[in-house]
Amino acid sequence: MKPAILVARAIFPDVLTRLSTHFEVESNQEDIIFSPTQLAEKLRDKAGALTTSSARINRELLQQLPNLKMVANMAVGYDNFDLPAMAEFGVQASNTPDVLNETTADFGWALMMATARRITESEHWLRDGQWHKWRYDYFLGADLHGSTLGIIGMGRIGQAIARRSTGFNMKVIYHNRSRLSSEQEALANHAQYVSKEEVLRQADHLMLILPYSTASHHTIGAAELAQMKPTATLTNLARGGIVDDQALIAALRTNQIAAAGLDVFENEPRFNPDFLSLKNVVLTPHIASASEATRRAMANCAADNLIAGLSGQRPPNLLTLL
Ligand code: GLV
Repeated sequence: MKPAILVARAIFPDVLTRLSTHFEVESNQEDIIFSPTQLAEKLRDKAGALTTSSARINRELLQQLPNLKMVANMAVGYDNFDLPAMAEFGVQASNTPDVLNETTADFGWALMMATARRITESEHWLRDGQWHKWRYDYFLGADLHGSTLGIIGMGRIGQAIARRSTGFNMKVIYHNRSRLSSEQEALANHAQYVSKEEVLRQADHLMLILPYSTASHHTIGAAELAQMKPTATLTNLARGGIVDDQALIAALRTNQIAAAGLDVFENEPRFNPDFLSLKNVVLTPHIASASEATRRAMANCAADNLIAGLSGQRPPNLLTLL
């Protein structure tokens, strides 16, 4: 008999078909976001699950699921997993690293450039019928070329973002839990390792791409925003909760920093509505990895992990320390 799995959210139909050659699949193509109680109910008879960040896999859930053996997250981030609890309950966990690095880095640049050059703000103005003439000082923004790019979180995506800055003749400074090797720094446009305070003080454009954890909660709050240049932009590609959104709203409102580009928010998708009243913020709905090819690669990567894990092989992207 094939093991039973839950695909907890809507997914590409051909990936469901692929999974169903290995498993009895319960799918959710209606894309209902299950409550913890519904998720426990759906997972009760399942050996595995393919999840996204909306599914919290924690101790309370695992206590109710003695049959569960593996959960494959279709995301590189896995802050929705309680890994120590999963290890304790003997449940394997995996994520989808690498396949999204370049697409996410591309998007980081798109968001940073839209923010610095006021692209969405000026488009709204144009669509609103306000464009009657050209003026020398309409929508003056900040240059990317020749400026200093500050990156907090210099993992694979941070390095891919840094690599792209060579064509813009930018200086790259970064802060990370650990320093890169000199070879990695050279490939990342000769990025220089500095303290978090130096990144905040020197960056013309600040890019946040670090994993979320209790340790990185509110890496950027009022005190950090106060250290930034008033002309600086901030781009958050990482996770809601890395930035204190209330503090950022205050900083944008008072022009303490020039502008922000945000793909992630605290409490998303019910983000703080005060962002909507600000012109100097570019808002996107958590789509940094959303190219057709990359989302497919992520879905297939999660499927590969689940297929390996539930057939007794080591999942290629195993996270759990069992
Ligand atoms: C997206 O946010 C991911 O973690 O892959």
